[in-house]
Amino acid sequence: MKKNVFIALLGLGICVLSACDDGRIYPDSATSAEGKTVVMEGVLEGFDNWASNYRVSIAGFEQADDEYASVSKVITTSDIKDDGKVSVELSGIKSEVKIVRLCVLDRLRRHIVTFEEVDVSDATEPVKVDLGTMNISMHNAIQQSFFNTTCANCHGASNRAAAGLYLTEGKSYQALVDVDSKKVEDKKLVETNNSANSVLHMVLYQQSVEGISMDHRDLVSEKNEQTILPLIDSWINNGAKEK
Ligand code: HEC
Repeated sequence: MKKNVFIALLGLGICVLSACDDGRIYPDSATSAEGKTVVMEGVLEGFDNWASNYRVSIAGFEQADDEYASVSKVITTSDIKDDGKVSVELSGIKSEVKIVRLCVLDRLRRHIVTFEEVDVSDATEPVKVDLGTMNISMHNAIQQSFFNTTCANCHGASNRAAAGLYLTEGKSYQALVDVDSKKVEDKKLVETNNSANSVLHMVLYQQSVEGISMDHRDLVSEKNEQTILPLIDSWINNGAKEK
């Protein structure tokens, strides 16, 4: 009698430990692989130096201008193989997702910047994207998504560079980091690890900056104010690295 109770308890114990009756059915990986698949592969320079409040990710979006990703997977150092290449796969992508991006999201999966994207609207087979060698550093993200589009026109891309400041590709880093302002006394354009004291930050956040005649605030869209300006601060406060 005692022996039977013991066996019954043992059986119950095993059952609890293995959660054998939680009622759910777990599909095996072969049957759960529905939806589209995208694989991206390449060498990602500057990947390691992203500030910890951002996530370099492979992410799917339903619309090009969606603020948030519908599905995403964070890329981590464990995705870097021995040859230095990253290979990441996003699978089970539902049909509503039209675009898959190599991009940076913040902690809430809000989209900040894109480095590469592929249209998967009509994809029936797994899509493979060869990224080659790509500079995905914080500085290059700011260059591509902001300086090139919003600043370079006056600062070096046309026939003039306002205040002698070049914000064009290949020049902006050397022109900004640890360089004295020509307009604001005793300030640097970018003071490493001190965004609040950097003239770059001041012109973007303040309506008027003593010494500078032009109001730069008008150039900053509402969206960039929420995505790019914090990115610039993060870049400065995380060492203002080139890569
Ligand atoms: C419409 C032309 C124009 C655009 C676009 C523009 N700037 Fe300027 N910027 C100027 C002018 C003009 C000055 C110098 C103002 C003065 O002489 O007082 C200046 C000055 C600056 C300075 C201060 C330089 C120093 O030595 O102190 C910084 C920093 C700066 N701009 C950054 C930017 C950034 C970042 C952008 C993109 C968001 C941008 N600018 C877009 C015209 C422009």
